[in-house]
Amino acid sequence: MSLTLDHAAPHHRAQADAPILDVLAERWSTRIFDTATPIDEEALRSALEAARWAPSANNTQPWRFVVGRRGGAVHAAIVDALMGFNQAWAADAAALVVFATTTSVDGKPLGWASYDAGQAAAYFTIQAHAAGLHTHQMGGFDREAIARAFDFGDDLAAVTVMAVGPLGDIEAAPEALREREAAPRTRLPISDTAIVNA
Ligand SMILES: Cc1cc2nc3c(=O)[nH]c(=O)nc-3n(C[C@H](O)[C@H](O)[C@H](O)COP(=O)(O)O)c2cc1C
Repeated sequence: MSLTLDHAAPHHRAQADAPILDVLAERWSTRIFDTATPIDEEALRSALEAARWAPSANNTQPWRFVVGRRGGAVHAAIVDALMGFNQAWAADAAALVVFATTTSVDGKPLGWASYDAGQAAAYFTIQAHAAGLHTHQMGGFDREAIARAFDFGDDLAAVTVMAVGPLGDIEAAPEALREREAAPRTRLPISDTAIVNA
């Protein structure tokens, strides 16, 4: 089966039940990255800056980033830590960013560290998308391998890996990737998730 997709067209656009910002509706998690173009450094810097300005519990800012550009040893070490199919496509991304958390401040555990890092990741994705980069977060990676590769002490824990870069040529991608790319984007209705909405 051959799939034809226009990545700029409504296929990936969220079928939102209420108006949302275009940048939110148009973001999707691609697995098809441009293997030739390097990361747009200005856009990457802005995405990290957006993450920096995410809110966090008590302004503790517990997120920590490991940033690797394709072709470098950091990128290669992150690819090595990816599991299964993630390794097959995410290695193409112009940059890979580990989102990690500091787990404590002055010996006191941070109760919202993962939540805060998730907000930073969300800010990152939206800023990146607005600048023409694409992103795809992954939980499928070996946390211990990341910790070993980057000398994480006990106070650091990797939470997700973010693939980021320009979109690749969807039509030229292997069938397995095009099939996943063609899958409809769906969400539960708000009536299922707003369990109280009086
Ligand atoms: C924390 C987290 C972990 C994820 N892990 C993976 C993963 O390991 N592999 C993968 O292909 N996608 C992964 N995803 C992507 C989700 O499957 C994707 O965001 C979801 O299906 C919604 O699709 P959309 O982002 O295109 O709207 C992950 C997303 C998040 C937020």
